Amino acid sequence: MTTRTFQAPKGTRDFYPEDMAVRRRIESAWRNASVLHGFEEIEGPSFEHLDLYTVKSGESIVSELFSFRRAGGTDDYALRPEFTPTLARMVAAKGGSLQRPVKWFAIPSHFRAERPQRGRLREFVQWNVDMLGLDEPSADAEVLATGLSAIDALGLRPDVATVRVSHRDAVGRALAALGVHEDSMPAAFQLLDRRDKLPPEVFGERASALGLDADGLAAFDRLARTRRPLSADLQELASETGVPVEAFAPMADLRDALEDAGIADWCEWDLGIVRGLAYYTGTVFEVHETGGTERAIAGGGRYDGLVELMGGPPTSAVGFGMGDVVLGLVLRDRGLLDDVAPPKPAVFVIAAAEEADRPVDRILGALRSAGVHARRSYRSTRNVGKLLSEAGRSGAAHAVIVGRELAEGNVVIKDLQGGTQETIAIDDVVSRFRGEAP
Ligand code: HAM
Repeated sequence: MTTRTFQAPKGTRDFYPEDMAVRRRIESAWRNASVLHGFEEIEGPSFEHLDLYTVKSGESIVSELFSFRRAGGTDDYALRPEFTPTLARMVAAKGGSLQRPVKWFAIPSHFRAERPQRGRLREFVQWNVDMLGLDEPSADAEVLATGLSAIDALGLRPDVATVRVSHRDAVGRALAALGVHEDSMPAAFQLLDRRDKLPPEVFGERASALGLDADGLAAFDRLARTRRPLSADLQELASETGVPVEAFAPMADLRDALEDAGIADWCEWDLGIVRGLAYYTGTVFEVHETGGTERAIAGGGRYDGLVELMGGPPTSAVGFGMGDVVLGLVLRDRGLLDDVAPPKPAVFVIAAAEEADRPVDRILGALRSAGVHARRSYRSTRNVGKLLSEAGRSGAAHAVIVGRELAEGNVVIKDLQGGTQETIAIDDVVSRFRGEAP
């Protein structure tokens, strides 16, 4: 027989038990934060009609689709690269019948045919938190507070993770004031988005092609590249750039909402944040490791037109996506995942005598029915020393040794940390351990 070895496809991951434990730690922080903030969990299909993504996701994501047809079929599908179009489709399908605001979260896998690199894979898990039907900045702040609550629960603080916030309306008004014509606005936003990837002279050339004079160009550059504290004086920003302060009014409202939500410490202005996805309208933000070089931990913003584009009623919307890959790297680098391991049993039951096998199985069954995480050895040895070291390796707090004492209807309970032991009636084992955390 010829054998072949296989590897997982490039950019995908195998989750062994230790990896799965890490994934569950992250996912449960996400789920807890969502529920705490009043969001309800949803899911959608992992593939959709291709058109759903070509309508309004933006070029970069469309070029990264895994698209396919079923054998013999003519319809084009794509594995979901993001969740927002599915969510907008689901809201649109219910028309006006959903109670507003809609507050939903999802933790699906996504697929992007990107070149795999640190922080970027072809399959990743992404937490989505979205709030629809409320166009106040307080909704933007509530969504963001939900994301930060999970980040905080995982051990990151504002000195480690920063939310870089911008407002597309404010930036659009500022660019118009600097001389960018309405028709060139998409190109101007695209340029802002790519500012860190272009050499300064190319950035300058492209900016002047947008119709900016030397002063406008300098102001554009300053707007794009300077990060400012959330408390920055907007009047000062206006005089510094020559943009009328009214242009920055949406930022003032947003700042108030972020302060009221108690998350101002995490946030700073970065008007260079545009977000590649084509559907964003107002507030946009990214969560980054402070001073780090990793890609964004999360990104999101307002997308007020998307539900309508999918045939639904006009619906304001705001949300974000947070992937598990970059977040996992940041947490691991800081030692915040060192304690994560697959669940450990409360009890390890040992057959130490010939006639002990069946009682061991009965004890195991009774413990598990009572909700106690119990394990046994599958080795045939009766060597108590070896079996106890296996029990120790399992991480169990106690061993139940079923041995000679069985003749009197008893078993020995050994505390695997302290080393003490006691003899109890076999019928008392379950009540002894009931209530131990699984
Ligand atoms: P996004 O910026 O494309 O936004 O992705 C959000 C986050 O997902 C990123 O910051 C990153 O953590 C993670 N992510 C994206 N692509 C990859 C990848 N190839 N490998 C690993 N992680 C990745 C969206 O997807 C929007 N739909 C988010 C949203 C929800 N906006 C409103 N609601």
